[in-house]
Amino acid sequence: MSAAPPVPVRELIRSAIADHRSELAGLSFLPELRYDRSVFATCGQYDWFSGQVLYCLVRALRPSTIVEFSTSSGYSTTFTALALRANGAGVVHSVDIDATAQRSARAWLERQGLMPHVELHLGDCRAVVPRLLDGLDLLFIDSLHSFDLTVWYLEQVIPRLAPETLVHVHDIMPPEARVRIHGGPPYPPSPRPARPPLSHLVKRAIWLALHLRNPNPFPARRPVELLPLETLAVHRPQAPDELPTIDGNYFEEAVLLRELLRDAPEDELCYLHREMTRHPELEPQKYAHLDRIQRQDRHGQPLEWNDALWLRVSALQRSSGHDSVRDAIRELQRAHQVGR
Ligand SMILES: C[S@@+](CC[C@H](N)C(=O)[O-])C[C@H]1O[C@@H](n2cnc3c(N)ncnc32)[C@H](O)[C@@H]1O
Repeated sequence: MSAAPPVPVRELIRSAIADHRSELAGLSFLPELRYDRSVFATCGQYDWFSGQVLYCLVRALRPSTIVEFSTSSGYSTTFTALALRANGAGVVHSVDIDATAQRSARAWLERQGLMPHVELHLGDCRAVVPRLLDGLDLLFIDSLHSFDLTVWYLEQVIPRLAPETLVHVHDIMPPEARVRIHGGPPYPPSPRPARPPLSHLVKRAIWLALHLRNPNPFPARRPVELLPLETLAVHRPQAPDELPTIDGNYFEEAVLLRELLRDAPEDELCYLHREMTRHPELEPQKYAHLDRIQRQDRHGQPLEWNDALWLRVSALQRSSGHDSVRDAIRELQRAHQVGR
């Protein structure tokens, strides 16, 4: 008899939320402290909705071993470790190359009494993670988002995992995402206030003064313009083995994954942005006013930050062999050179 197919990732998320949402009120201290530098000395950008889903999934799946890269000051680690503590078992191995960040993470996690469920590793994830992969149940990726780090985990980590293993990648946009252009002033709030507050005018004056001294390196761009991802301008690769860079943050990882996941079966992945509207009870935007980064444009489209992808390793394994990754890179290079 053949084994039952794995539960679709979307269903897994929905049932985990249904089973554990009553516990989520206890997590609200996290987004409230999110930008308190005396607590989280270095600033990663993990978000409230993703954090709640992470908590529920760890509660539902009861993993023994989780590997996270990277820790920063332990913000995302806290959601995971709280869920492991509620489960009464399990450990998250969390890796970061930044000693200051890990000191901050350790101090915070110790104060929270979470260290029995956390093992912190200081170092380059490329050196540390390969020895943590045996028996891994869940992989959490929120690191440099660069091209070389992405190619590294696609080629060196993903092929070593069991196909049903769940992977979480943060700061990945769904294909319908829009992006913010670098170098412009912040988005106008929506709806725009009738009269901007004085503080805004003062900030704008300072911005203008600085801007006149140090002109925008991208002066030709309209500052608040938002572009669909597909139409984004890209910069030609400078070397044969390089991916084109694309305006906005965090694109190298996102673009490469999008290319590799283009034909992945729907059941094997879930972009959290698409789930947000189904779960108003989780109040995805409740702490948006505390965020330094806006997550949606005026059209309600997600911006480049803070969206997250959950997927099964099988979705990537099908396409992340050395040859496929190289092919996807070549394809991207070809596609983005055309028409420039
Ligand atoms: C986006 S932050 C992580 C945010 C974190 N998950 C949180 O919730 O606060 C990215 C982190 O990746 C770390 N990093 C960058 N390159 C790394 C590498 N090669 N190995 C390990 N960590 C790295 C940085 O030091 C930084 O702390």
